[in-house]
Amino acid sequence: MDRYAVIGNPVAHSKSPLIHEAFARATGQRMSYERLLAPRDGFVATVERFVAEGGRGLNVTVPFKLEAYALAKEKSSRADEAQACNTLAWRGDHWYADNTDGVGLMRDLTHNLHEPLAGRDVLVLGAGGAARGVMGPLLAKTPRSVVVLNRTERRAAELAAAFMQHGPVTALSAAQLNGRRFHLVINATSIGINGDVPESLWPRRPFAPGGLAYDLVYADVPTPFLRWASKQSAERMADGLGMLIEQAAESFVVWRGVRPETQPVFAMLRPGS
Ligand code: ATR
Repeated sequence: MDRYAVIGNPVAHSKSPLIHEAFARATGQRMSYERLLAPRDGFVATVERFVAEGGRGLNVTVPFKLEAYALAKEKSSRADEAQACNTLAWRGDHWYADNTDGVGLMRDLTHNLHEPLAGRDVLVLGAGGAARGVMGPLLAKTPRSVVVLNRTERRAAELAAAFMQHGPVTALSAAQLNGRRFHLVINATSIGINGDVPESLWPRRPFAPGGLAYDLVYADVPTPFLRWASKQSAERMADGLGMLIEQAAESFVVWRGVRPETQPVFAMLRPGS
């Protein structure tokens, strides 16, 4: 049986095995999917052992996305654009690196949440690896504007400059936003599920009517960002569970050549939604 896994540190909390097992059942694919904990300084050795033992593909999560990208001999344009890899596929004698995070997010936004993106104004909070991964796929959807706001303004400016040729992206501080309103505000910082929202750094009430607050992380309770967004009168809110399932589906396509349905898996992981 072909073996797959999610590799990370930590990885015990990952919902990827549940998702891929559901996909495999629904599409009749014979495969196994496990969690693979790698020591922080032992990513490559763990991957080598995995492939020697019959491993055929990996989802890669924190903190190994850059190392996975560097390890692969062959890379997709999506991985090149993000300069990070969340999907490794074994090609017989080498690893192929792909990145399905961006396309997964776009599919969740456009298909599941009916956010058109084209012609819309988007605010991205954060300018690290996660924000970088979002930028290319987002600009490809032809928004009217994308503003990057980050604690360290220099990093926001660098990110905006790196993607300028892809579309209308600028870096601004909260003061410079000057009352601008956005149809979509994406939290791409690493505040996560336990951190504190930097209230003084972020704009007050940045949401246009019907505006959507989207957190790249997911949790069973509202995240700090979504609690903040609610106070700032966001009318619609979503966490990253939909993105997680959509990026997994895209990885499944890379490995198995079959596209699983995602809606039943979302309903399984968030009953009553
Ligand atoms: P990742 O790969 O998860 O994006 P990263 O590259 O370390 O991680 O980037 C983390 C992002 O979250 C950065 O934009 C960081 O802001 P700085 O560039 O100023 O460091 C942002 N971030 C992390 N903690 C934050 C906090 N408490 N308040 C505001 N921004 C924060």
